[in-house]
Amino acid sequence: MTVKAFLEVDSSWILKFEKVTEVTALKTAKPIMDSDEMVRKEGSTMGFAITDTLGDIVAQLPKAGEVFQNHRIDFCCGGNRALFEAAGEQNVDATQLVQELNALLDAASAADANEVDWTTAPLSQLVDHVLNRHHAYLNTTLPTLGELVTKILRVHGQNHAELAKVHQLFYTLKMEFEQHLIKEETLVFPKIVAFERTGSKDALEQAVAAIDELEKSHDSSGQVLKELRKVTRDYAVPDDGCGTYHYTFQKLEEVESNTFVHIHLENNILFPRLQRTSNAQSA
Ligand SMILES: [Fe+2]
Ligand SMILES: [Fe+2]
Repeated sequence: MTVKAFLEVDSSWILKFEKVTEVTALKTAKPIMDSDEMVRKEGSTMGFAITDTLGDIVAQLPKAGEVFQNHRIDFCCGGNRALFEAAGEQNVDATQLVQELNALLDAASAADANEVDWTTAPLSQLVDHVLNRHHAYLNTTLPTLGELVTKILRVHGQNHAELAKVHQLFYTLKMEFEQHLIKEETLVFPKIVAFERTGSKDALEQAVAAIDELEKSHDSSGQVLKELRKVTRDYAVPDDGCGTYHYTFQKLEEVESNTFVHIHLENNILFPRLQRTSNAQSA
């Protein structure tokens, strides 16, 4: 079964995943309260404050975890600490840090507001969107997530044998994704852009010829993600799971969410548009 068919059969997954994006999560972020200690981004009606806890911030904005990692701020075992407290320990300016987080918040909200009709937008714009929102995400997330998956296996593997399977599945997925992204970025997407720019029928046909193989790869990755969800019992963290355990499962679920939108855009919109254009040219 292709992922397209898989998504059609289990469309509730798409709905769910589209709702669980970090952007949507931001909409539920609590409004900041008035306080001298709090920093509000100018002109913004919602956002993070320096008194918010690290755990709450990462829960509402998963990307904040990467920001904290960059600043060497431990948000895993010390997730209950306020942002200003944790920042102070690392000699990081809390005001600048919260502004950085709120900029990410605004960017994600703006991206959500600027929804484009991908069934009619230029193909090259759709390709750019896939590269910026999905390929870039995987290219930056997979290496760090791999380290986390290995870390929780090392620390918790003795008590939670399923983490060995999570480790195996994740690295299978990572390898598949890396090869898949390289193929799209170097062999397929440039042909699509070239076709739109020059009208080259050869470029279009070369892109269309790759569709079957790409869909099979999507299908394989979709099955691995499904298996990961099953093995983790819907990413349920056991009672003895530490902050890293929680964050790792949260990021795995985020990868699943991002990937299903990614595959949806390619299987259900980009590839059919290429195929229809090819058919029309052959008619
Ligand atoms: Fe892709
Ligand atoms: Fe793809």
